[in-house]
Amino acid sequence: MSDGWEDSADAWVASQGEEGDFGRRWVMDAPMLERVRRRPYVRALDVGCGEGRFCRMLAGEGIAAVGIDPTVALIDHARRLDPGGDYRVEAAEAIGFDGGAFDLVISYLSLIDIPDVATAIREMTRVLAPGGTLLIANLAGYNSAADAHGLGWVTLADGRRVHAMDDYLEERTAWIEWRGIRIRNWHRPLGAYMTPLLEQGLTLTHFAEPPAHGGDPARQALYNRAPWFLLMEWQKPRAGSSSGPTGRA
Ligand SMILES: C[S@@+](CC[C@H](N)C(=O)[O-])C[C@H]1O[C@@H](n2cnc3c(N)ncnc32)[C@H](O)[C@@H]1O
Repeated sequence: MSDGWEDSADAWVASQGEEGDFGRRWVMDAPMLERVRRRPYVRALDVGCGEGRFCRMLAGEGIAAVGIDPTVALIDHARRLDPGGDYRVEAAEAIGFDGGAFDLVISYLSLIDIPDVATAIREMTRVLAPGGTLLIANLAGYNSAADAHGLGWVTLADGRRVHAMDDYLEERTAWIEWRGIRIRNWHRPLGAYMTPLLEQGLTLTHFAEPPAHGGDPARQALYNRAPWFLLMEWQKPRAGSSSGPTGRA
């Protein structure tokens, strides 16, 4: 079954521009880049790269980035926007690189779009070099739980605006639409991501729910009342260290 991404590619590219939409421009780009700048990464893989905007940002940081995405129309846009870049039509569940090929693997708001997330996390870990970093931006689960029921910001009878969601613990897929984009993604509770990440023996080295730091003040306030995203940085154990869930000997 289609996930809508091929038909939504043009609207998606229009929604991003070079600066990204509100959530990228005013919430996630800065903390993602802040983590990237902490170590001298050489070779990065951006999994679910879309039209390649974050790959171009990585290149601006002097990091050789490869972008993969199964949506042909988005990879076509990525190649058009960055003719010198390395963009490939590949899904996260079957990454066509040797083990240990990258010191940085990124999933920038793509985990909720990936059908088999446990296999994808296994693949992302496989292509990471020992000591390498898996950097993840994801939609917060209570947001995807709202989307999946057409909820979100609602007005109560007494006039208060609250962020509503339901069936948080139930993993499910839903079609969502905005700005001419119509795609299918997944709501999963946080544990559905944490469990496969821990099972890979990765160590969580950073966790944040970044606030909005600019843009339209009304939107900023909403993003800060119900943070939209979370950021996780995981490290693969170095050769010879424990492969247990905590990475401790
Ligand atoms: C919300 S977009 C994010 C794109 C980009 N990372 C960004 O932040 O602008 C989600 C992306 O996940 C991709 N995607 C869907 N299924 C995927 C899969 N199985 N493996 C990898 N990426 C997938 C879609 O094609 C889409 O480009």
